[in-house]
Amino acid sequence: MDSYKNNILLGDSLQVLKSLPSEIVDCSITSPPYNKQEKQKGWLVKNVIYENSVDSFPEDIYQEHQIAVLNEAYRVTKQGGSFFYNHKVRWDKGDLLHPMDWLRKTKWCIKQEIIWDRMIAANIRGWRYWQVEERIYWLYKPMGTHKIGNELESRHAKLTSIWRGSPERNNPHPAPFPLWFPVRVIASMFGMKEPLNRGLVLDPYSGSGTSLVAAKLLGHDFIGIDASQEYIEHAKSRLENYKAENERCQKELALHVVNKTFSNRKDNGENTGKHRGFFEQKPAKQYQLLEN
Ligand SMILES: C[S@@+](CC[C@H](N)C(=O)[O-])C[C@H]1O[C@@H](n2cnc3c(N)ncnc32)[C@H](O)[C@@H]1O
Repeated sequence: MDSYKNNILLGDSLQVLKSLPSEIVDCSITSPPYNKQEKQKGWLVKNVIYENSVDSFPEDIYQEHQIAVLNEAYRVTKQGGSFFYNHKVRWDKGDLLHPMDWLRKTKWCIKQEIIWDRMIAANIRGWRYWQVEERIYWLYKPMGTHKIGNELESRHAKLTSIWRGSPERNNPHPAPFPLWFPVRVIASMFGMKEPLNRGLVLDPYSGSGTSLVAAKLLGHDFIGIDASQEYIEHAKSRLENYKAENERCQKELALHVVNKTFSNRKDNGENTGKHRGFFEQKPAKQYQLLEN
């Protein structure tokens, strides 16, 4: 039995990833520390402080480290596997820092940018419109030169690229995922058809273990990594009692339903989303100019 399987490994994620064999993981889901720079005292900084790790590096060092972690995760991922990487747009003294700044420098193929509408702002100063969203990057390790990969089952494809859901509140960890997020990812990556294709899910910054609980609830193996023994203990106790979270898991899965498939609609002559040509479209409403 591989000792890393269904285990949470204590340590720095880059070093631990280096100790894992190549091409073992099917899907990773994570949210790394965001390099919030403790010296900048904002709402988020005061409330999100991790036990046993700092979150304040020169930005170039932080980005290089993230690239190294992402590339090591690429190595341990099977061809055709995916990584869902949660991050956000930040600002450093007015300069915008975008996750694409470093994601484009990794080995991953960037398959999609998903907007997570969290419906709550961490900083409500008036310098900009309130930032209520974070980003989720669907990164893909191609099979050979085939960068597009397989289609999602239609029930998941109906989910759009904007995911609306508030952050988790019932968890003592300072920045946990809500359970629906990894459940949605795992259900759509592995599909929901029987018999289940049992896979391996990795979270290299697993914190309170939400991705691992989702993997276990959906019948998959997992590997977690975190720098904090305290968070690992918390995650382990959640994993022991994982059935208590099944109701919330089922609530998310209930959204992954389509009553009619594309073929059903096509056979009944119903709307198949065919693009209407420019001249067939109704003209846009004309607005009257205001006169002084
Ligand atoms: C945003 S939290 C992840 C929370 C997790 N998604 C959950 O649902 O609880 C980031 C985690 O990274 C861990 N961490 C910070 N630096 C680390 C490092 N260098 N290596 C491994 N883990 C680290 C922190 O302890 C924290 O639990």
